[in-house]
Amino acid sequence: MLVLGIETSCDETGAAVVDDAGRVLSDVVQSQVELHATYGGIIPELASRDHLRNAGPVVKEALAKAGLSLRDVDAIAVTHRPGLVGALLVGVQLAKGLAWAEGKPLVGVDHLVGHLLAVNLRRSDATPPAPAGPHVALLASGGHTATYRVDGPLARHVTELGATRDDAAGEAFDKVGKLLGLGYPGGPVIDRLATGGDPGAVKLPRPMSGRASRDFSFSGIKTHLAAWVREHGVPQGEQAMKDVCASFQAAVTSVLAEKLIEAAKAEGVGAVTIGGGVAANRELRRRVTEGAAQHGLTATLPELASCTDNAAMIAYAGLQRFVAGERDGWDLVAASRTALPRSTRKGRGHRD
Ligand SMILES: Nc1ncnc2c1ncn2[C@@H]1O[C@H](COP(=O)(O)OP(=O)(O)OP(=O)(O)O)[C@@H](O)[C@H]1O
Ligand SMILES: [Mg+2]
Repeated sequence: MLVLGIETSCDETGAAVVDDAGRVLSDVVQSQVELHATYGGIIPELASRDHLRNAGPVVKEALAKAGLSLRDVDAIAVTHRPGLVGALLVGVQLAKGLAWAEGKPLVGVDHLVGHLLAVNLRRSDATPPAPAGPHVALLASGGHTATYRVDGPLARHVTELGATRDDAAGEAFDKVGKLLGLGYPGGPVIDRLATGGDPGAVKLPRPMSGRASRDFSFSGIKTHLAAWVREHGVPQGEQAMKDVCASFQAAVTSVLAEKLIEAAKAEGVGAVTIGGGVAANRELRRRVTEGAAQHGLTATLPELASCTDNAAMIAYAGLQRFVAGERDGWDLVAASRTALPRSTRKGRGHRD
């Protein structure tokens, strides 16, 4: 079985073909990073226009790379939430047009379920097998940060355990990147600079650490660092910049890894996974691997290309819905928020 996936929820135009074993036959990502970099963040109107320009060619390229035509795929999956509505509309409308023209089933996908299932993608024969049973997953991206219990591949199998009360982890990386004059997005640059830095150089808080709550909070770390920069100025030498990056990265990743391991232990599952752009962070990957081993848990990490936005994860999540008999009609809409039930309200902690 083959599914074509289309992703346009934010600043990446993606199309991919994936089979039912999770094998990635093609995965094309056209990034808009350079387009938005001048502004230090994503401009929604520009994102929509760029998706409109690139979505068709990206789909064509994904089919060509897989050696297929549209006729060969069994279904068309598309991200329809959460994200920038004007950006999502481009992918949703393209998917509807293709499905209509070829008489193919249409399946809408929640982008967050895509991130959670990205660990199942097989980009080479060397990819380790994904967790088979119930597990706890950390999703840390530009717009979301939460832990979930994952009992199966559909949205209804996913239960939120705890989430951020303020900034997403990726958002914190990006804001600190801007603060330090490192450009946008900050995550990959901070990851690179943190190597060889002293993580103890700047004392930063570990919000929510050691507390029973499964929620996260990252705005305090960022505020603390902003105050430090006001006092000391932006680090000038390379080593000084490395030290600040390592300190910030240690503060964020230690809380992420700690809360993931604690949640897995509390849920009584034997395995943990991670997903989302921040899952590409090498320090987070090291801490999760080490923490899991210390507590007798199996950690499976997605390949780097599966962490940041891509359409392969959308094709895979759509394939799971398709196999389960789920379809969408021509009335499929775009929505800014996830459909996953949320137990945490931003800024207000757990719902009772
Ligand atoms: N190596 C890295 N270390 C830390 N952060 C990273 C790394 N690589 C990417 N990121 C961060 O990941 C985020 C982008 O991830 P992703 O593409 O999953 O987010 P998004 O799609 O914008 O948000 P969402 O998935 O919540 O809608 C950015 O904030 C970026 O800085
Ligand atoms: Mg994403």
